[in-house]
Amino acid sequence: MQRQSTDLSMDAYWMPFTANRDFKKSPRLIASAQGHHYIANDGRKLYDGFSGLWTSGVGHCHPKIVAAVQHQVAEMDLCMGFQLGHNKAFELAEKLTKLAPEGLEHCFFTNSGSESVDTALKIALGYHRARGDASRTRLIGRQRGYHGVNFGGISVGGIGPNRKMFSANLINGVDHLPHTHNLQHAAFSHGQPEWGAHLVEELETLVTLHDASTIAAVIVEPVAGSTGILPPPVGYLERLREICTRHGILLIFDEVITGFGRIGAPFAAQRFGVLPDMITVAKGLTNGVIPMGAVLVSESIHEAFMHGPEQAVELFHGYTYSGHPIAAAAGLATLEVYREEGSFDQARALEAMFAEEIHQFDHHSMAIDVRNFGLMGAVELASRDGAPGARGLEVHKQCFWEEDLVIRNSMDIIQFSPFLNSRPEDIRSMFAAVRRVIEKLA
Ligand SMILES: Cc1ncc(COP(=O)(O)O)c(C=O)c1O
Repeated sequence: MQRQSTDLSMDAYWMPFTANRDFKKSPRLIASAQGHHYIANDGRKLYDGFSGLWTSGVGHCHPKIVAAVQHQVAEMDLCMGFQLGHNKAFELAEKLTKLAPEGLEHCFFTNSGSESVDTALKIALGYHRARGDASRTRLIGRQRGYHGVNFGGISVGGIGPNRKMFSANLINGVDHLPHTHNLQHAAFSHGQPEWGAHLVEELETLVTLHDASTIAAVIVEPVAGSTGILPPPVGYLERLREICTRHGILLIFDEVITGFGRIGAPFAAQRFGVLPDMITVAKGLTNGVIPMGAVLVSESIHEAFMHGPEQAVELFHGYTYSGHPIAAAAGLATLEVYREEGSFDQARALEAMFAEEIHQFDHHSMAIDVRNFGLMGAVELASRDGAPGARGLEVHKQCFWEEDLVIRNSMDIIQFSPFLNSRPEDIRSMFAAVRRVIEKLA
């Protein structure tokens, strides 16, 4: 394995979601980013096949967003956000709710996807209590769901390793729907699998078990991302909405990945024509330039809080950096870029070629499944005997060192998240590079 020479001391930094000891033996270090590329510390220009970390749909260091941030940091670095406000946070909230499906009229700012999720769960609990329905406390997530790393998020999340170490302290009163991944019935589906909508009926079973009067909310990713791209089976989300509505259960779509054009529409809610009660976002909200998240909330949920004496705080929740001026400036510039460049339409127009290219792996002897929706894609490789995840990490590393390409693996699932404004020839070259790497794998 190659090595970038570095005299950096690597000990102090405990890296997130990284095999720290392995990484530090052969660090993969990036010096700068521009457009669709990174420049590595050793000077190589690498194609970014993951557009940041699902974040940077219009490319790195977009001049308009950079200028907005530079201007804002000099004009006002911070404004106390409790009992004080500034224009840009209000403007961004207004624009976001205009972009959101009709009915989601309010916006609560956070700093990340994890915070958005925990905020949405708290709003769900607060909503029922505010309406005098305080017994509705149960939260329902889904197996293989990823909702960030805070305690609420890992509790409703369904990824084993993210929960195991903390299992004794996960929040109480949480259930999970079954995931929809099934190699026997749905492997190599193009887009939404035909099989699997019946799995949502498990929610009826949970309602029978616990009684609807105890259930506050269901949270799902419309297309599960981090677990390795699981598009919803045809009819699944529509039926989920029906069951939730019938039983007075709030439906939260976690759109931290699917928001802002990743699936060819502002939000998955619009793409699938299913209206949730809340949407959580982050990542593409600022094109990844400044950390920021938000929860988009329906009129009726918001209204439920707006009672009592006017001088009283309605929701005892918020972050020092909620609606931070620099993040708000980045968010406003990002929304402007999406509009000016037609980014969501650009992404939609790339879908067919992306699907065609990724499904070239269908016939590869090492692939056990290939999945895609919008500009989200995964090639699932068979695991090496006794070493799950080893093959996937090797693909990531070989792409970095041999092919000047950054892609992501989750265990043995190779994931792709190209830019919304990708050039088709770059998407083709990316898959060709991955194919060369896989050919050489044992
Ligand atoms: C669906 C979903 N929810 C929540 C999160 C957590 O976001 P963050 O890492 O910004 O806390 C992620 C991150 O990838 C995500 O994909």
